[in-house]
Amino acid sequence: MFDKESALNSVPSLYLYDHSNAQQDVREEIIQGLSAQQKYISPKFFYDETGSRLFTDITRQPEYYLTRTETRLLKRHAAEIGTLVGKDSLLIEYGSGNSEKIRILLDSLKPGIYAPLDISRDYLAEAALALAQEYPWLEVRATCVDFTTEFDLPFVSRRRHISFFPGSGVGNFNRPEAGEFLARTRRLVGTQGCLLIGVDLKKDDATLNAAYNDARGVTAQFNLNVLAHLNRAYDANFDLSLFAHRAAYNAVKGRVEMHLVSLRPQTVTVCGETYRFRKDESIHTENSYKYDLEEFMSMAVAAGFNRAEYWVDDRSWFSVFLFYSEGEGD
Ligand code: AVJ
Repeated sequence: MFDKESALNSVPSLYLYDHSNAQQDVREEIIQGLSAQQKYISPKFFYDETGSRLFTDITRQPEYYLTRTETRLLKRHAAEIGTLVGKDSLLIEYGSGNSEKIRILLDSLKPGIYAPLDISRDYLAEAALALAQEYPWLEVRATCVDFTTEFDLPFVSRRRHISFFPGSGVGNFNRPEAGEFLARTRRLVGTQGCLLIGVDLKKDDATLNAAYNDARGVTAQFNLNVLAHLNRAYDANFDLSLFAHRAAYNAVKGRVEMHLVSLRPQTVTVCGETYRFRKDESIHTENSYKYDLEEFMSMAVAAGFNRAEYWVDDRSWFSVFLFYSEGEGD
């Protein structure tokens, strides 16, 4: 920690901000979820240091086509995106865990400022530092923030704002929340700004189920790690061997649902409260919503974007949208 901080201070082009909304009462949130009829834990609790590492490992599994497909799309269309967006922008990235993707964009967009946002402070600081050292011409302004709620950037810039939300991270919002996120982002980037966003598409059940049940069991480890995170950070005593990973595509709701299933009746203590589990009772840990091109496009229009470009791979498994608005200034 000390080493990391001193390294941070030694790079003049790097700024690290702590946004107050990242320290909200998370205990309340955990208690509320575990007290519900269908117990749940928000997917943002996946991303402690181990969870962030496990997620990176997921993206390398053969069944997890999302990252690979999106990276290929970005590489194939980087020059075109660069032309549409222009140089010297303020490039804001939602979730800073995707260093390969941002490198593709930095090389073709040549932004003036790169502003990664992430809820996991240590992970953010590490990634931002690595990038600032690798790209000395780039100003890096990293913000520790919970971007699932309303927030303002902790600095002002007159550069064109480009929000980049890769990886189908938007899939963690339910549909109305995704619409609100799009509207908030439209307000953040302003009339001149744009949003570059990766969105996973609806497809056959087998492909989706495989992507969330990789043969090596990395997704299972990732899912179970949320319990280890609660044990470490929130005085919980989950026994990870008494829960099993379950993930399945729900075609009616258009989402992959991930759960942790209690293997037997048991009692767990979290944040000083006791929770009872029946055998086979689950904790819902994640939804990953999948979209049709038309559906996502109309959500963006409803959010105030009135122009779009999009790119899809040959199999139409994944899409990258660039949304802008054209019209009166605000
Ligand atoms: C980071 C939310 C896009 O939903 O596919 C990967 C997280 N969960 N495997 C996704 C995740 C299980 C991922 N997102």
